[in-house]
Amino acid sequence: MNKVLVIHGPNLNLLGQREQNVYGKTTLDEINASLTKLAQANNVSLEIFQSNHEGEIVDIIGKAKTNNIKAILMNPAAYTHTSIAIRDAVAANNIPTVEVHLSNIFAREEFRHTSLIAPVCHGQVTGFGPNSYILGLQAIINLLNK
Ligand code: DQA
Repeated sequence: MNKVLVIHGPNLNLLGQREQNVYGKTTLDEINASLTKLAQANNVSLEIFQSNHEGEIVDIIGKAKTNNIKAILMNPAAYTHTSIAIRDAVAANNIPTVEVHLSNIFAREEFRHTSLIAPVCHGQVTGFGPNSYILGLQAIINLLNK
């Protein structure tokens, strides 16, 4: 069974309470439950990880090859716009990675318009709320089945 690593970056543990006007009412547990359902229906297993710490995210990406991860679905949250370390980790492991965002980062403040990570990803899904994760995982499933 193909194993996909799902990474949720900083403050995404607060989904459902955090800035509901931007991120909606869906909690992280609910997002994880719908991802798990889609994964199961497609014979894929998920390893789900949330961290507020840049180094922990770098570490888990660095171990992905050894852990037999075939693709990564990641919402790097605020680290999208700041983290050369996470970008380098993605570039180093050469595992197809899809970046997702709940909000449309290009329709928000200018500092969110740049993703340091997207250029080393297979692609990016942004602006569809929790559905961004579903679309991102579906894209990964299609890639793995190719
Ligand atoms: C986010 C967008 C980022 O700019 C922000 O820092 C987040 C969430 C999103 O999913 O829309 O924490 O990644």
